[in-house]
Amino acid sequence: MRDDLCPSIIQTIGETPLVELARINRNMDGRILAKLENLNPGYSKKDRIARQIIEDAEAAWELRPGQTVVELTSGNTGTGLAIVCAVRGYPFVAVMSKGNSSERARMMAALGAEVVLVAQAPGSVPGQVSGADLERVEQETERIVHERKAFRADQFTRQGNVRAHYLHTGPEILRQAQHQIHAFCDFVGTGGTFAGCSRALKEADPQTQCYVVEPVGAAVLAGEPSSRPNHRIQGGGYSMPALAFLNRELVDGYLQVSDDDAIRAARRLAKEEGIFAGFSSGANLAAALQLLAGRHRGQTIAIIICDSGLKYLSTDLWA
Ligand SMILES: Cc1ncc(COP(=O)(O)O)c(C=O)c1O
Repeated sequence: MRDDLCPSIIQTIGETPLVELARINRNMDGRILAKLENLNPGYSKKDRIARQIIEDAEAAWELRPGQTVVELTSGNTGTGLAIVCAVRGYPFVAVMSKGNSSERARMMAALGAEVVLVAQAPGSVPGQVSGADLERVEQETERIVHERKAFRADQFTRQGNVRAHYLHTGPEILRQAQHQIHAFCDFVGTGGTFAGCSRALKEADPQTQCYVVEPVGAAVLAGEPSSRPNHRIQGGGYSMPALAFLNRELVDGYLQVSDDDAIRAARRLAKEEGIFAGFSSGANLAAALQLLAGRHRGQTIAIIICDSGLKYLSTDLWA
């Protein structure tokens, strides 16, 4: 955390603490270190990519002063963009599935964003955003970009997504852990966090093992069929077999986590460590526990705490 005067909230993004989960690890052989991205100003890791994508676009003259910015978002990237756009003076439109929790839409609107909610596909369940739901959000996003001659932030393809984690999140973890990281596992949405952190960690030590985390029943990156696309782990597991950022050379293995495992782990983070996080952070912890119980026994594993538990108060995560 910075101790000097910041010219705006944008300078408070990143440099989050890395915390050892010493209570959860008490009866295990090894350590899990958690990067508290829930402490960013928009309460998620996506503030980092919002800043990077906008700064990169400004530097490349791809974004004109006052031009509208549009993004397809499950809420977190949109919140980051709403913050950065508010400070930099860009109107921002967030396009989101109705299946995501309502807190996110309300927070973006509070930050000045125009929020467009897209109805889910027939048969989809609120709280469970599927690939078919995302396809609908994609069509609406493209329509709005075209209509308003807007800049699409496009977290699935813009390199700023990976660069934010390659330039900052990964190096911060290495510095804070004094380079003592044996493995890293991450629940994949766009794959930006996985790719950026894994590249930074492997450049520092090529022996570091990096694992993609997916929902049970939607492990398409591992090459399995998607039998249960409507899982509950919001922010990823979209059953998209081809992700622009997922360079397979960075992947040492694939792990699967059930909804129940993710929920149980998120509750443990809150009750045992005082870390109030969401479903995907629980998925990352559940996957790291698998690694500590198996091939990484006795070693140190880094995970990301992706966002705040406050974003799920309307769900039964905290029932
Ligand atoms: C809560 C949450 N967890 C995990 C992810 C996945 O992160 P990435 O897109 O970097 O793979 C996202 C992405 O939106 C997210 O919002």
